[in-house]
Amino acid sequence: MSIERNNVLPAQKELERQQEFIDSIRKQNDAYAKETGRQKKFYSLAMGCQMNAHDSEKLEGMLTEMGYVATQEESEADMIIYNTCCVRENAELKVYGKLGWLKHYKKEHPDAIIALCGCMMQQDSVLQTLRQKYRHVDVVFGTFNLYKLPELLQTRLESGRTVYDIWQEHRETVEDLPQIRHFPYKASVNIMFGCNNFCSYCIVPYVRGRERSRQPQDILQEVKKLSADGVKEIMLLGQNVNSYGKTLEEPISFAKLLRMVHEVEGIERIRFMTSHPKDLSDELIETMAELPKVCNNLHLPVQSGSSRILQEMNRHYSKEDYLLLVEKVRKAIPDITLSTDIMVGFPGEEEEDFLETLDVVKKADYSTAFTFIYSKRTGTPAAVMENQVPEEVVKERFSRLLETLDDGIHRLHEKLLGQTVIVFAEECSKQDSHILTGRTEHNTLVHFAADQTDIGQFVPVKLTENKTYYMIGERVTGE
Ligand code: SAH
Ligand code: SF4
Ligand code: F3S
Repeated sequence: MSIERNNVLPAQKELERQQEFIDSIRKQNDAYAKETGRQKKFYSLAMGCQMNAHDSEKLEGMLTEMGYVATQEESEADMIIYNTCCVRENAELKVYGKLGWLKHYKKEHPDAIIALCGCMMQQDSVLQTLRQKYRHVDVVFGTFNLYKLPELLQTRLESGRTVYDIWQEHRETVEDLPQIRHFPYKASVNIMFGCNNFCSYCIVPYVRGRERSRQPQDILQEVKKLSADGVKEIMLLGQNVNSYGKTLEEPISFAKLLRMVHEVEGIERIRFMTSHPKDLSDELIETMAELPKVCNNLHLPVQSGSSRILQEMNRHYSKEDYLLLVEKVRKAIPDITLSTDIMVGFPGEEEEDFLETLDVVKKADYSTAFTFIYSKRTGTPAAVMENQVPEEVVKERFSRLLETLDDGIHRLHEKLLGQTVIVFAEECSKQDSHILTGRTEHNTLVHFAADQTDIGQFVPVKLTENKTYYMIGERVTGE
């Protein structure tokens, strides 16, 4: 099914080709709407990280151009698309669970189209399972050919057969895909794809391919367009932004890219993730300290506090290196907040290794953290390591980790009580439209009562209550 490499057209032509499929499906969908008085609907679900969320915005953009309208109700959708994740086993189990439900749905709605894409589809074992047990799926593609959705859908509509198209590696970066943005005032921008780090537990390099940086001009053009559309906050995305630009024909550092993005008028806040501790340069720290629009908040995943485990993880830094880095960053930017990713139960983790992790948590003073239980991923080096840690031990460590984190984060936020901070109001609460949610420059999540006209604005809020992972505040008026 997959197209040979030498047949692939240059990116611009490929985009035009997909546009023809978009137009053709649009015609069919418009005709359907005219005949039935009902527009076809799509339900889109992005699992996993911000990369996937961002990719789904592009899938949704294409579907909208094809004449489908979005629905939040899966049970009324004509087109269902899951952008899957496989970083941990739970993510995969969720997809299989949903596919079980979809089997019944498809019986009642035989014309509904079910599409699966994203990281999980890059694994042969998954494709085999789908072919054997989940034959009600209609379109399957991976992470390298997302832009082909219109063509694959058209092929499915014409042939009536399941279409599989999975590439093993990256070919073209197709720029300028249509996109539906979930927030009007903030947006994510991919600056690079893939990962070269091969941390021994992680499946991402296998399913997202080798690291590729986008051209700075393309990134800038996208940021300028977003700014013209009213976006004020930009999140630059990459698995390891610190190695951005190193392999471009004209190499450029991430810090230089930040300077260029900083120049874009209308953009008021810049964030980025993720920053691998092994490559965090002095140039980047100085640039963050210097540029006012770059938020004083850094996501610096530690994974473990044990130097021995870090080595087994292939992370290329020790506990001491990490803590020195934290010290250096705090010295250059005293008010910076740090967040992190922590994993518990990596093969061979002993109680003393875990205590080192707790020690780092106490010393680094994180303002928030994403915590994970190690999940064995077939094909990664860690999957065949001996001494996998028993589940009860991992669970017990995990709850101790959460307790330590909660304590530290609560204490950190306690110091903010009574302060007036500037919050970028992002949206209103789903339960109560008078409650707005936003973030400070330091990435503190704040809920406060205010008028909806505040959405998209930077507003002063006095922090009155500490809920550990978020804070409650009062909108300050008359300033
Ligand atoms: N590129 C980013 C992380 C991307 S994956 C970085 O290096 O920091 C997000 C997080 O998922 C990782 O930081 C790690 O904590 C977690 N993770 C990755 N593989 C995992 C696995 N096999 N089991 C449990 N957690 C995992
Ligand atoms: Fe996975 Fe490591 Fe790459 Fe992050 S840097 S995506 S954890 S391999
Ligand atoms: Fe992200 Fe999951 Fe893929 S974390 S890169 S969606 S495996």
